[in-house]
Amino acid sequence: MHIFSFSSEEELNKAGAKVVIDLLMKKPSAILGLATGQSPVGIYKQLVKAYKKGIISFQLIKTFNLDEYIGLNKEHPQSFYMFMKQRFFDHVNIPSERSYIPDGIAPDFNEECIRYDRLLNKIDLQILGIGHNGHIGFNEPGNYLSSRTHVVELTEETRIANSKYFSSLNKVPTHAITMGIGNILKAQKIVFVARGKEKAEIVFQSLFGPITTECPGSFLQLHPNLVVLLDKEAASYIDEGKIQNIETAL
Ligand code: PGA
Repeated sequence: MHIFSFSSEEELNKAGAKVVIDLLMKKPSAILGLATGQSPVGIYKQLVKAYKKGIISFQLIKTFNLDEYIGLNKEHPQSFYMFMKQRFFDHVNIPSERSYIPDGIAPDFNEECIRYDRLLNKIDLQILGIGHNGHIGFNEPGNYLSSRTHVVELTEETRIANSKYFSSLNKVPTHAITMGIGNILKAQKIVFVARGKEKAEIVFQSLFGPITTECPGSFLQLHPNLVVLLDKEAASYIDEGKIQNIETAL
């Protein structure tokens, strides 16, 4: 695991974008795993900049998003599809038929999970945030975790955290479809991003605590190629000796 911390938001975002750009330079047809939430947004902005400057093209890539709310169609302003469209897809040249997101209004959700799992090719690079409760994707803490794509009931904590995007808490969907922990860990490389003091403890527990279903992020310790990008606040529980210098490592 390589952990980096940044004093500026921009440096963090540039470092995240650089991992993606380096991959696309080597493999223009790379498969990217994408996340919603605030954590990756700055990285998407940097990627859009790089695309507009002609540094990279997304023409040949495929993308798979981690999750989608159940009950929201693609056009719903709070769907993850819309989130990705507004912040990334509309500003780059990814052919729309190669961007995959689970269907939140599928007629049969079990079938939809099977369909998504079948589509999921081996992801070259997964961008990942973490919830305050340790969820990755929407794999919520509990007694067990699912390996494959599945339907999940969102915890109250997650619904409250995400209610900032909705007009009220009762508008936040209660269920979602998410890739499983196995899907996430199969990615060749994971770029794990977290910001802010409120994430410091869960980031520490995920990276250095016991591996437990009570903290789904802790399974990231099993991944052989994990790059952790944190701001100073999110890194504040981590011993400085465990943090690497970005200049020499990336
Ligand atoms: P955030 O969400 O990036 O908005 O903090 C992360 C998550 O809930 O997985």
